Amino acid sequence: MVFPVLQDKVTVVTGAAMGMGEATARLFAQAGAQVVVADFNDEKGRSVTDDIVANGGEAFFVKVDVSSSEDVRQMIEATVEKYGRLDGAVNNAAITPDDKNVAEFDEDYWDRLMSVDLKGTALSMKYEIQQLLKQGDGGSIVNISSVSGFRPQPQNIAYVAAKHGVVGMTKVAALEYGGENIRVNSVAPGAIDTPMLRGALEQFGFTAEEYAPQLSLLNRFGQADEIAQASLWLISDQSSYLTGTTIHADAGYTAR
Ligand code: NAI
Repeated sequence: MVFPVLQDKVTVVTGAAMGMGEATARLFAQAGAQVVVADFNDEKGRSVTDDIVANGGEAFFVKVDVSSSEDVRQMIEATVEKYGRLDGAVNNAAITPDDKNVAEFDEDYWDRLMSVDLKGTALSMKYEIQQLLKQGDGGSIVNISSVSGFRPQPQNIAYVAAKHGVVGMTKVAALEYGGENIRVNSVAPGAIDTPMLRGALEQFGFTAEEYAPQLSLLNRFGQADEIAQASLWLISDQSSYLTGTTIHADAGYTAR
């Protein structure tokens, strides 16, 4: 059972067509939120949205490339047009790590990853905060970082840099807008069983059974819903005294 801690709160979730974003959008709808399912992937995004609505939730789909300023601006405009306001957002959209050592990293991929994982998060915060300031009664933003935002991973230079950046940007925004009661926090997931993780395992030739114990003190990968629960708490008023911080939802990976 999900308590209605987001009753009638208007929340945007980027990258909500699959993985953790999808789980977050579904959980938020169950908690009573009006959910904007925002994603690049039209087909999957619409299908998640339809399913939320078919199950009694309130949601609508916006197609967005978070690396485009104009798209992100329109995402917030469409949100306000549909639901009249914005209360919170989970900036979750990202693309996967690269697979090259530093001496060989792919510069085109660096640019693409930075434009989505880093600038996309900054752009999302930009337009979300503009709207929250207009309303003048606060709000809550969650940026999805990673264990890679705290620990180095080999063959991941762009992703590690971007996810460290997400942690830094979260603190900057928290610092600037705390006075307006806009809280900005991040969640840093560990190894979570999503299409992104499955893709990475395949790429490096590992099985889940071999790899999970190296990444988790609980000897298993996390489920997308377990990360959605952390975001739910941060978006809700139940976490009203938290800003500028990170929840490490990583089964102890960074505690090792
Ligand atoms: P995923 O790959 O399963 O889903 C990502 C979603 O973002 C997809 O629906 C995709 O269409 C969307 N997306 C990608 N580029 C976009 C763009 N430019 N504009 C709009 N939407 C876009 O990813 P997953 O695994 O659910 O990851 C979610 C977040 O968690 C990401 O920020 C990721 O970096 C982070 N993360 C993932 C971990 C894992 O183990 N899966 C571990 C730590 C962090």
